[in-house]
Amino acid sequence: MKKLVMLLICVLASLPAFGQKSPDWLKAAVFYQIYPSSFQDSDGNGIGDLKGIQSRLDYVQSIGVNTIWLNPIFKSAFIDGGYDVIDYYQVDPRFGTNSGLVELVNEVHRRKMHIVLDLVAGHSSNQSEWFKQSMQADSNLQYSDYYIWAPNKPNDLSEQDASRWVEANAPRAKYYIKNYYDAQPALNYGFAHPDPKHPWEQAVDAPGPQAVRRELQNIITFWLEKGVDGFRVDMASSLVKGDPDKAATIALWKDLTGWFRGKYPEGVLIAEWFNPKQSIAAGFDVDFMRPGKLTSANERGSATPAKVYFAKAGEGSPADWEAYFKDQYESTVGKGYTSLPTGNHDQPRIAGEDRKDPAELKVLLAFLLTQPGIPLIYYGDELGMKYIANSPDVEGSRNRSGSRTPMQWDGSEDAGFSSSSKDKLYIPLDPDPNRPTVAKQDKDPNSQLNYVRGLLKLRKSAAALDNEGGLEFLSDVAQPYPLVYMRHKGNEKYVIAINPTNKSVEAKIVSQSAHRAIYSFGTTETSSYKTGNGVDTIQLPPVSAAVFKLE
Ligand code: NOJ
Repeated sequence: MKKLVMLLICVLASLPAFGQKSPDWLKAAVFYQIYPSSFQDSDGNGIGDLKGIQSRLDYVQSIGVNTIWLNPIFKSAFIDGGYDVIDYYQVDPRFGTNSGLVELVNEVHRRKMHIVLDLVAGHSSNQSEWFKQSMQADSNLQYSDYYIWAPNKPNDLSEQDASRWVEANAPRAKYYIKNYYDAQPALNYGFAHPDPKHPWEQAVDAPGPQAVRRELQNIITFWLEKGVDGFRVDMASSLVKGDPDKAATIALWKDLTGWFRGKYPEGVLIAEWFNPKQSIAAGFDVDFMRPGKLTSANERGSATPAKVYFAKAGEGSPADWEAYFKDQYESTVGKGYTSLPTGNHDQPRIAGEDRKDPAELKVLLAFLLTQPGIPLIYYGDELGMKYIANSPDVEGSRNRSGSRTPMQWDGSEDAGFSSSSKDKLYIPLDPDPNRPTVAKQDKDPNSQLNYVRGLLKLRKSAAALDNEGGLEFLSDVAQPYPLVYMRHKGNEKYVIAINPTNKSVEAKIVSQSAHRAIYSFGTTETSSYKTGNGVDTIQLPPVSAAVFKLE
């Protein structure tokens, strides 16, 4: 008996990340991100709300997604679209009430779906009670050390650090450190290497930073106990200051995610980190990846526009992507999930003036929705809703408003989003009279919406194509078009071939030793896959994508 127990312990201990396992439901998760102010207005004030979202759940489910992520819905001053939270324990009245949220959660669960909220962990609003108290001269109050206060600004700060110092002239001190806008004072998780000459740099285990950590646990507990399935954590990678290698931030998250996993084995934590290697090691279940030059010309930090891979001109290369993805994916496979989104509330949408041909969008979607990890559809991308350049700056959106325009449901004046007058809409609608809508696309078998539904159905039907199916790049990066890769699990194999260019292309790849390759899905059946002796040949017409099953 004793031997058996020992054996069992050994077996369990040898399992990967024993005790830290993500919940099983993530294996088949497909995310749908909703920007709550822009999805559906139920009370006619021109701004979306929770009741509105609830009324659209059947549609959301019909796409084939099963996990909703809502951008912040907590009481906010809306200086940064809700990412400036005044009260983490209250739904903002614009969106509804706490009990309204519970109702939404229950409705989501009734449909066997999941819902995660957005946890703005790095900073609060400067209007929060915590910050107001922290500003007071007395530095021994409950929230005094929730923020980073300093009497003077050192001269030797890097340009980036210096830009985070806000002159407040508060009774407490002259300066505080912010994260993004001035109205977003950074919460104090401490400094990785506190400099004794800088008394405001507290250690991560000092009482203030430890209290903030506990507050985060309280917030998580509060909402998980109400049935919420987890959180996407805003700016998860930058909580500890002065931590370039992220060691202290990873240690902080290991502590929190270990606690979380023990308490909520079915809950999920998704990082906004953009580095799955680090975030998954920190215990997160999922992290996002940036598509970079694959889809967008203006990568952050690059002065010269890159040659985009997904463009008809065919001047890009998938080489950088392959290297980056392979590295991230291979170091996290079996431990957590990467997620390559179609878009988000911070980036230009995949559809816009530079990519408006529906065929092009279908090619790109074939790629995005056949990747391993957890797919994410940003609301409206399933229809081809466009990034609307020059949309007005609303609540700190700056040029991000172009990706936050109201969801396009039907052909009515407000596109079915609201019953308010047009001038009251949160952000103006896409002005194009032919803008895509759910009503137009729902019954059209060739619509983008039904194409997305088809891709997600295929993904669900084949283990090789699901979140955990393997990935192997087959095409030669030296010949960038088409991009050919394989998804596999056990004996099941699918080959996906992608041609964003306006030319017919051919790829010769090492024979996959299949008897035949069957066209399963794509933009046109005129593509072909010929199995050969030593070499397989794939041909694709211009702007096309095809998924072949090998048998
Ligand atoms: C990332 C969020 O996605 C973005 O919308 C926000 O402005 C910043 N974090 C600051 O919270």
